[in-house]
Amino acid sequence: MAKIGFIGIGKLGLDCAEVMAEKHQVWGYDIYPRTSDLVKVCGIEELVNESEWIFIAVPTPHAEGYDGSVPSSHMEPRDFGHDAVIDAIKNVNKYANDSKKIVLISTVLPGTTRNKFVPLIDSKHQFCYNPYLIAMGSVKWDMAHPEMVIIGTEDGSLTGVAGKLIDLYKTIMQNDPRYEVGTWDECEAIKIFYNTFISAKVGLVNMIQDFALRIGNINVDVVTNALARSTMRIMGPKYMTAGMGDAGACHPRDNIALRWLAKEYDIGYDLFDTVMHAREIQAENLAKYLIKVSEENGNLPIVIHGKAYKPDVEYCIGSYSTLVGHYVTKHGHAELKYIDPLADDPTDVVDNVNCPAVFLWAHNRKITYEYTGNQADTHPYCDILPGSVIVDPWRKLESSSDVKVIHYGNTRGA
Ligand SMILES: NC(=O)c1ccc[n+]([C@@H]2O[C@H](COP(=O)([O-])OP(=O)(O)OC[C@H]3O[C@@H](n4cnc5c(N)ncnc54)[C@H](O)[C@@H]3O)[C@@H](O)[C@H]2O)c1
Repeated sequence: MAKIGFIGIGKLGLDCAEVMAEKHQVWGYDIYPRTSDLVKVCGIEELVNESEWIFIAVPTPHAEGYDGSVPSSHMEPRDFGHDAVIDAIKNVNKYANDSKKIVLISTVLPGTTRNKFVPLIDSKHQFCYNPYLIAMGSVKWDMAHPEMVIIGTEDGSLTGVAGKLIDLYKTIMQNDPRYEVGTWDECEAIKIFYNTFISAKVGLVNMIQDFALRIGNINVDVVTNALARSTMRIMGPKYMTAGMGDAGACHPRDNIALRWLAKEYDIGYDLFDTVMHAREIQAENLAKYLIKVSEENGNLPIVIHGKAYKPDVEYCIGSYSTLVGHYVTKHGHAELKYIDPLADDPTDVVDNVNCPAVFLWAHNRKITYEYTGNQADTHPYCDILPGSVIVDPWRKLESSSDVKVIHYGNTRGA
């Protein structure tokens, strides 16, 4: 049984620490009061003294307005903040009496670990950069079933601490994952380009959705399903359903930050700006479509069904729903509301909708979570009164005699 400390037990760190605690002795420290039945929450000095492994999962925040929930492609690109990681490293240096195995999980741009963090770490410690591919709403499942485990060392070799980290992970993994070992910089790149590849993929399938709407006689699913099955040249089917745009606390902001890196290294072009700009225009197109449907139906109010960036979580950070909402308001539709029992941002969220409305069916639980084995559909968050129209960007709901459903992206026969 290993002795493990987690510095930063927030949205990612606490669940990960609890998965570790099923097999190991785990301490947790946070500047914010936290509780856990499995992890011993304690002060930083006790954590550093007791642990042989120290995982750092503190925030590397983007600046205000850079999360992707409102337009940002027009703003000056900026790097993430590193103060909390630097503070955690300084605390380990300060309180460690012997050599520790330090593992940094937090997301940073390529080059940051080598340039900014490693020079601060006392030479008696060993260090790995080990970013996680984990999503909100399925943190514990993702932790034990990762697509790959990314382990960065100074020269990309499987040095002592990297090998020991793999042995540690073998005690908790339930899917015998791939271990990808590279330099710190390569591993920073694997993590952030993994996220931004997804944004580009979602941007592409949503572009096909935009074309379907303009050209007619096209069901976007017929096109994207054919592409998704083209495993010879393209790839697997995940993120190949057109719908809402890429969202959340990580993906949009990673693209936004890579805009800064592209400029910093004078790459000569900014693909990430293009991806983020396309995401914003796709949201604007959807917003205009909602307004058109509202006007065609006697100016019904518009309600976005799902404000958090995905079902089953409260987080509105980086939400595509609010980005669509931004454009609905910008284009002059005054009566915009959200319905979402979990949303952590209550602005314009209502408990019920007492009149017919145009609903944007933003959440589809099955599409979001079916890879974890959770096949449950999203149930309505409120009564949908007769005369309402649902715009379903996922094209799964069916019309009834009372409520019309429009499959956004399917213009066959339209
Ligand atoms: N949430 C995810 O799904 C996810 C997935 C992959 C990577 N990440 C990355 O992991 C890191 C943490 O993300 P998160 O979502 O858990 O953030 P979070 O804000 O929910 O949690 C971070 C925690 O660290 C604490 N903290 C801040 N400064 C501290 C300090 N100096 N010392 C100790 N604790 C401190 C905060 O109080 C908070 O509880 C980020 O770099 C993020 O990009 C997150």
